[in-house]
Amino acid sequence: MTATLGEPGEGIGGRYLLIRHLNSGGYGSVYEAQDRQNNIRVAIKKSDLFSDQNDPNDQGVPVVVFREGCVLCKLTHPNVVKVHDVYIEQGHHNFVFELCACNLREYMGQLDAQGQRWMDEDKMQKLTRQILSGVKYCHDRRLIHRDLKPDNILMNAEHTIAKLADFGMIRMMRCKGGGRYTDRLVTHWYRPPEIMLGDIRYDTAVDMWSMGCIMVEMMMLCPAFACNTEIECLMVIFQRFGTPDEEDWPGITTLPNYLMEFPKWSKPQNLFAAFMVKMSLLQKSPTKETYNL
Ligand SMILES: Nc1ncnc2c1ncn2[C@@H]1O[C@H](COP(=O)(O)OP(=O)(O)OP(=O)(O)O)[C@@H](O)[C@H]1O
Ligand SMILES: [Mg+2]
Repeated sequence: MTATLGEPGEGIGGRYLLIRHLNSGGYGSVYEAQDRQNNIRVAIKKSDLFSDQNDPNDQGVPVVVFREGCVLCKLTHPNVVKVHDVYIEQGHHNFVFELCACNLREYMGQLDAQGQRWMDEDKMQKLTRQILSGVKYCHDRRLIHRDLKPDNILMNAEHTIAKLADFGMIRMMRCKGGGRYTDRLVTHWYRPPEIMLGDIRYDTAVDMWSMGCIMVEMMMLCPAFACNTEIECLMVIFQRFGTPDEEDWPGITTLPNYLMEFPKWSKPQNLFAAFMVKMSLLQKSPTKETYNL
C-alpha cells in the first residue's frame, strides 16, 4: 500500500493520534496510534477500500477486508488479536487492533542475530501451546485461518504471549470433511502438499500443516521449506518424506497437478530422524544427542 495514514501527531479516525508506521503487508499498512478516549496505544491497519482505485467499475470493498472485518469482530480469545474499532476514512478502511510488540518472524530473527541455534525448548512449547489454542478456537467455530505463518503471529514485548492475526484469508468450513475453496492461500513455504497438487477440497488440516512448518521453524530458527517456487517446495517435501503413492494417499494420482513423472523418493524408516538430518539440524546444533538420532 502506498498511501500513508498521515503525519505523526496528526488526528485520525476522530479519536486517534498517529504515532508511527509499524509495518506493511500485502493488503495494508499498519501504524501505531494513541487512542485519545482511553489513552491506550493501538495498532491501526489501513487498507484501500476499493480493490483498484483506477477502475471506475470497481466499487467493492475488497473481499479480504470484508472477511477480516466480519470474522475478527466476533472473535474473543487471549491468543487471537483483539479488534477495538473499525472505521472508514478518505476511501480507506481502518481496523483498530490491540497493539503488539512484534511478530514471530521478527522475534526468531532477533534470536538468530544473537547467535542462538534454536529457540529455547520451554519457550517454544509455551508459544506453540498458545498458537494452537488460538487455532483450536477458530477451528471449533469451523473457521480455517488459511494464512498461518510467523509474520501473522503477533507477540508482546516480553515474547511470552502469541496471538493469531491477519484474518484476511479466513474461510468458514461449509460441511464436515471440507468444502471446495480457492487454492490461493498460505504463502507457499507454509502451504500443504494437497493444495500444491491442486486439491480444492480441504478443511482445517490446511492450518495444521502450516502449524507444523511454524513449529519446525521455531525449533531451528530457519524455515522448514524456504523454496523459491511451489513445485520446488513440493519436491523438497517428497524428498524428505518420500514420494506419496496411491497406497499411502488414496486418490493422489487423480489430483490435477499430480504427474506420473514425479521422481520417486523412498520413504525414510524414521521420519522424524530423517527429517531432522535433512534439515541440517545436526550441523546446526552441538547437542544433537538431545534428539536421540
Ligand atoms: N496489532 C498489531 N500490533 C503490532 N503490529 C502489527 C499489528 N497488526 C499487524 N502488525 C504488523 O504489521 C504486519 C502486517 O500485518 P497483517 O499481516 O495484518 O497485514 P497484511 O497486509 O494482511 O499482511 P500479509 O502480507 O500477510 O498479507 C504484521 O506482520 C505485523 O508486523
Ligand atoms: Mg500478514
